Amino acid sequence: MKISVIGCGYLGAVHAACMAELGHDVIGIDVDPGKVATLAAGSAPFFEPGLPELLASGRDSGRLRFSTDMAEAAGAEVHFVAVGTPQQAGSEAADLRFVDAAIDALLPHLGAGALVVGKSTVPVGTAARLAEKVAATGATLAWNPEFLREGFAVQDTLHPDRLVYGVADGDERAAAQLDAIYASALADETPRLVADFATAELVKVSANAFLATKISFINAMAEVAEATGADVTVLADAIGHDARIGRRFLNSGIGFGGGCLPKDIRAFMARAEELGVGHSVGFLKEVDAINLRRRDRVVELAVEALGGDAAGRRVAVLGLAFKPDSDDVRDSPALDVAARLRALGVEVRAFDPEAIETARRIHPELGYAASAEEALEGAEAVLVLTEWKAFRALDPETVGSAVAQRAVVDGRNCLDPAVWREAGWTYRAPGRP
Ligand code: UGA
Repeated sequence: MKISVIGCGYLGAVHAACMAELGHDVIGIDVDPGKVATLAAGSAPFFEPGLPELLASGRDSGRLRFSTDMAEAAGAEVHFVAVGTPQQAGSEAADLRFVDAAIDALLPHLGAGALVVGKSTVPVGTAARLAEKVAATGATLAWNPEFLREGFAVQDTLHPDRLVYGVADGDERAAAQLDAIYASALADETPRLVADFATAELVKVSANAFLATKISFINAMAEVAEATGADVTVLADAIGHDARIGRRFLNSGIGFGGGCLPKDIRAFMARAEELGVGHSVGFLKEVDAINLRRRDRVVELAVEALGGDAAGRRVAVLGLAFKPDSDDVRDSPALDVAARLRALGVEVRAFDPEAIETARRIHPELGYAASAEEALEGAEAVLVLTEWKAFRALDPETVGSAVAQRAVVDGRNCLDPAVWREAGWTYRAPGRP
């Protein structure tokens, strides 16, 4: 099918590349000429495993093009809208200006019978409002939320664990058009749910709210563990064996960050307030608060590791990205902790396999190292803040010979305390004795 993807950020660039991979003829549109040039050259503007290969093969096959000119979207049968919905400055609500701008810019280019498919995460009620604008051109709107995870974005797009279509009044034609696009996933028996707009919008935010709640639940248990000498990692393993609970998303540590979970739970609370059901998701306020307290705790552990006096001391920070296999530092707990330590006068030497440049743009005042070895040299404490595979595999003996003091704070509970203690390290971690 002929497809346009409006907005080529994380979601849009991956979606466009995957749609071309599935054999569709795709034009990606973005207002940022730099991003468009990079994508058109077959490179990814951010780190995402597997994406550069798809961009290059899409370019070579001629099925994947990029442009800043919305007029190039004309003629596509299906237009995906994948622009960002960040948190508004000065409010918890979502900022919809990019969604509105994208739809308004697209309207003059819509042919009768075209299908506009929203993929952005939006407050419930948005699709119904936009559907009216789209209908005035003779086109139709559907809402098809996306559940991809950074680091697994290609895999999640090509092999989603479910497909959700939000359509107006059982619009079978829209559902059939989406079925044609996702034919290969449907052939793999991917569950497909057709719902109204409000349900589709709510599925997305409630999924992220649930995941955030699960993480904050285990982090709340970490606080209780700290008060009692219990070990939250063993607790997570034990309750995780109950299939009704499940072990995934029960990793306790520095808390969740990124471009989705934090802003999505806040936008959900703001929208629920507007709808008069703020009390129904009031617990998300606590989920957010527990999450942010974990950063305080890791800063506290770092200061403790330095013997209570942090100013002027040298600390190796390993990890800046909000999670491994990503260069994304949006609302990254790791970067936040590094910046807070710097503000306390600590001499931070930070290393991340992919996120140094993205981190430097936000916090140029931090000291950055070109390698883990360089960050570790002469450090009086080592902080592991993103659980990259390379950090999980560090050998405490080798690291021990580089540092000035064998003190480690495992902000992600990703190291084996017994092994590190055995090698003469003082090991500290949130939620663990
Ligand atoms: C999240 C959701 O998982 C996706 O399903 C969703 O599509 C996406 O948001 C989105 O709305 O676009 P993502 O932000 O890529 O995906 O990252 P996650 O894997 O969910 O991790 C979020 C944060 O939680 C990270 O900082 C991670 O380190 C942290 N986390 C995750 C924990 O602290 N503990 C865990 O057990 C799991």
